Amino acid sequence: MLAVCLLTFIAALTAAVPTPTPEPPNGIHQCARSECPVYTELEDYGLDMWKRRIEPGVWVRKVAPTCNRTDALGLVYIDIHNYFVDNRINRTTPIMMEVSENKAAPSFCPDQLESFPCCDEIYALLFYIPAVSQATAPPPSKDSGVELVHMEDPREFYGITFGGRPVNHNVTAKYKQLSEYLDDQGIRFDDDAFLVATYDSSRRPQPHRNEILIPIKKPGRSHDRNDGIDYENEGQENQANSAIQRSPITIMKFYLLYPVIMFFQKW
Ligand SMILES: *[C@@H]1O[C@H](CO)[C@@H](O)[C@H](O)[C@H]1NC(C)=O
Ligand SMILES: *[C@@H]1O[C@H](CO)[C@@H](O)[C@H](O)[C@H]1NC(C)=O
Ligand SMILES: *[C@@H]1O[C@H](CO)[C@@H](O)[C@H](O)[C@H]1NC(C)=O
Repeated sequence: MLAVCLLTFIAALTAAVPTPTPEPPNGIHQCARSECPVYTELEDYGLDMWKRRIEPGVWVRKVAPTCNRTDALGLVYIDIHNYFVDNRINRTTPIMMEVSENKAAPSFCPDQLESFPCCDEIYALLFYIPAVSQATAPPPSKDSGVELVHMEDPREFYGITFGGRPVNHNVTAKYKQLSEYLDDQGIRFDDDAFLVATYDSSRRPQPHRNEILIPIKKPGRSHDRNDGIDYENEGQENQANSAIQRSPITIMKFYLLYPVIMFFQKW
């Protein structure tokens, strides 16, 4: 009898203890649902602004063939999604949209035409490969346009967290808020690229989490290109007749080199 009572008591106790929701080490609850890159929080500036290190890892990336930021995600999402599905790799969060100034454009492109790759900004989608699959993730097929990016060094970013959907004007407003804060503090940052991280699909109930990440200014890096790639037709005097100088070979080279150029400049 006593034993039965005791057992019932224990059973009741066990039932009363709520199963703890696992908290991910970075405190971002979306990262408990789905694996996130490894973050190390470096500073908290308050007002949802912070400095973070993203630890080395493997990513998949695809450049969106468009000059329209709104269209970019829809154009490349499925190819990256398919890479995960086809290779039975679990999806991760967040979706990262890389927005970068198209520095190569002026020498290759006519001024009047804004169509890919002659955009002011280039957009690329990035997804983190889960840790367990990083060593074995197979190279994506060439025609998918998806590439594997081995980020071998940690990268540091300033960031700001915000809710809602990362629509363009909200992204712009948050970028402005963060960059103005950094300017006021005299903190130098890389102003030619940033990332927009989205942690929730639009179908999920609010609150959602989004972030803008601005790369720290790399010490000793000037604004000049120093990626060791010999750009053709550089300089002001060439811009007027750049349209004439854009041979098909040049365009081809541009397409092929682009992912490499972007990676070394931005990441
Ligand atoms: C970008 O695409 C969106 C949706 O497809 C469209 O509504 C918008 O007008 C486009 N913006 C420009 C500048 O073409
Ligand atoms: C993918 O995620 C599921 C559910 O979290 C897990 O059971 C499975 O082991 C994961 N697969 C791989 C290959 O990591
Ligand atoms: C954009 O930001 C405004 C102001 O913070 C907010 O009210 C609005 O809901 C946001 N839009 C979306 C789509 O999240």
